[in-house]
Amino acid sequence: MALTAKSMVRIGVIGTGGWGKNHVRVFNELQCLAAVCDVDQQRADSFSRKFHVPGYTSLDTMLNKEKLDGVTICTPASTHFQMATQALAAGVHTLVEKPMTTNVKDGERLIDAAKSANRFLTVGFIERFNPPITALKQMISDGKLGDPVLLEFHRENRRGQNISDVGIVKDASVHDIDTACWLFGEVPKVVYARVGAFYPPMEHEDFATILMGFSGQKTAFLVTNWITPNRVRTLSAVFSGGVVDVDFVTQQTSIHEGSSTTVPTRPVQEPLMLELRGFTDAISEKREPIVTGKDGLNVLRVAEAALASSSSGTPVYIE
Ligand SMILES: NC(=O)c1ccc[n+]([C@@H]2O[C@H](COP(=O)([O-])OP(=O)(O)OC[C@H]3O[C@@H](n4cnc5c(N)ncnc54)[C@H](O)[C@@H]3O)[C@@H](O)[C@H]2O)c1
Repeated sequence: MALTAKSMVRIGVIGTGGWGKNHVRVFNELQCLAAVCDVDQQRADSFSRKFHVPGYTSLDTMLNKEKLDGVTICTPASTHFQMATQALAAGVHTLVEKPMTTNVKDGERLIDAAKSANRFLTVGFIERFNPPITALKQMISDGKLGDPVLLEFHRENRRGQNISDVGIVKDASVHDIDTACWLFGEVPKVVYARVGAFYPPMEHEDFATILMGFSGQKTAFLVTNWITPNRVRTLSAVFSGGVVDVDFVTQQTSIHEGSSTTVPTRPVQEPLMLELRGFTDAISEKREPIVTGKDGLNVLRVAEAALASSSSGTPVYIE
């Protein structure tokens, strides 16, 4: 389905690597792409040529020369804090890819920076825009299957290059931490985790199993690893009146109630398109995006609690 932004906003994409190139393509489709920036001159030039927009190797120069409404930051995690601070100070709305920053302290400072600049800060938690997750959120609100009790996530696949500036918890588990908090509508009270590094010379952890305890008896169980040979991205949501199985990749949902199973038909839509259109719409409608900086910070708190829990071997309570 062709989508366009509701009104013309000008977006600059920073970082045009493996993921940023998708932001460039989608903003071009939305007719919002105004400029690209990459420290790699060849990449900046090639995307500039392909999409007929100015290409920069310096964020400073792009922010000074272009009248941008927003930027998306698709550079490595260790650069997010500095890039986002710079963009917000220049007065542009900012979507930072996950993780928002590499640590809670920088996350808090970034939220302050967004407040001072009076600009949106949002984070690339793309799964919220995945159609089966949007539908599941609606099912929870409707209450037709009763109360949600347990969310069990699997996000697993072998990774060729185990080099990253953050480990799997801050790189990948963050997606499911955010989805769990969003579906339950709250932040967990307690986190227990075991993480480890399976493939040397991995500097950070490459597998994590995280248990998140929410109010009442609500629980989320996350299995994330870069070990499983095939790609698995699933969620099983247990309600008091049934079970909903979601495949993030095929976007298929199976609803089990008693002995019957229904599989709703729904058009497959690109989650990134829905996410980035949400960003441009929030800018043009002058309203807070669905994912807030606070959400990004809460996820970092949980991620750090998981790492601390694994180090200490004990549950970590979140205030
Ligand atoms: N939401 C998702 O589903 C999803 C998926 C993949 C990656 N990501 C996130 O996107 C970000 C980028 O990941 P990637 O896989 O594209 O990395 P990558 O290494 O493939 O690309 C990073 C790009 O940023 C450029 N870059 C580095 N420092 C820069 C700077 N100071 N100024 C401008 N450009 C700079 C590099 O030259 C490179 O082109 C990460 O935060 C990652 O977690 C999100």
